[in-house]
Amino acid sequence: MGLGYKSATLNPFPLPARPASISTISNAPPHRAAINEYAPQRFEGNQSARPKFRPPTISIEQPDMTQNIYDDPEFFHGYSQMGRSLGGLDAAPEWPTLKSMLPPMKGLKVVDLGCGYGWFSRWASEQGADSVLSLDVSEKMLEQARKTTSVGNIHYSRADLEQLDLPIAGFDLAYSSLALHYIKNLSGLFATIHAALKPGSRFVFSIEHPIFMAPRNPGWLIDGEGRKRWPVDSYQREGERVTNWLAEGVIKQHRTLGTLFNTLIGAGFSIQHVNEWGPSDTEVAAQPALAEERERPMMLLVSVHR
Ligand SMILES: C[S@@+](CC[C@H](N)C(=O)[O-])C[C@H]1O[C@@H](n2cnc3c(N)ncnc32)[C@H](O)[C@@H]1O
Repeated sequence: MGLGYKSATLNPFPLPARPASISTISNAPPHRAAINEYAPQRFEGNQSARPKFRPPTISIEQPDMTQNIYDDPEFFHGYSQMGRSLGGLDAAPEWPTLKSMLPPMKGLKVVDLGCGYGWFSRWASEQGADSVLSLDVSEKMLEQARKTTSVGNIHYSRADLEQLDLPIAGFDLAYSSLALHYIKNLSGLFATIHAALKPGSRFVFSIEHPIFMAPRNPGWLIDGEGRKRWPVDSYQREGERVTNWLAEGVIKQHRTLGTLFNTLIGAGFSIQHVNEWGPSDTEVAAQPALAEERERPMMLLVSVHR
């Protein structure tokens, strides 16, 4: 089964992007035309027959627009079939590590940024959180979250993390799982989160690892001895990556580790713990498909203090 999160990532024969299918939170029509430079391809056969790089991205984009790919019907359908969508936190192999970075939930006011189906929000409520504000830009994700939530202390709301307003010192914990690599204005978001947290409180998040995000042509290479290698290139070239994960033309934002941590520090946070997640021996024994996650980090788990 693998990570679930990743298994459908790599499309061997990506088609040109279909910008018209991309929904945006703005009512204005999308202003984006893209030829995918970074579309992922899994290619494990004869390397001489490996598909060639495609031409560079041409991108005309309005800075205030959010892609909101999770409301794309094709993307949402694909996402809804994934292990972690069906099985929640227990189906996310990085969850035990992420959980170990969290404080006890009892009595906390929590904000869940990019809450998706609300798995974490419900867990926090079950663990005794006082209240959870659960934010996402996707109507479809929020609809599913609301349908599967029966407790009254979780408040779901549609919000774009690119331009977020939160009450000053209103929260004891900010949490985000696998949403921040979609965010362009990360320094603005981190400043908002910092101001929204009470002094001494924590911001805990997971994000796609820059080594996973960086390549122009992300996909395993198989060497002469049959070993998997991850092609890291373009690492220093920060910015947009367009991939064909679940739908065509999915936009993410690559940054180096240095930029990510300096942006946190610049917002006033102090770094408490960093984990470049990989499976343990026991996890690989239980789920052999996880073994490839030892070859390169796919996710970064971070805990910082306000
Ligand atoms: C990989 S899903 C993770 C969902 C959930 N946190 C989890 O771990 O199950 C990423 C989520 O981030 C949300 N997202 C992406 N960009 C966003 C934005 N600009 N504002 C708010 N939410 C966003 C998506 O709609 C989606 O629900």
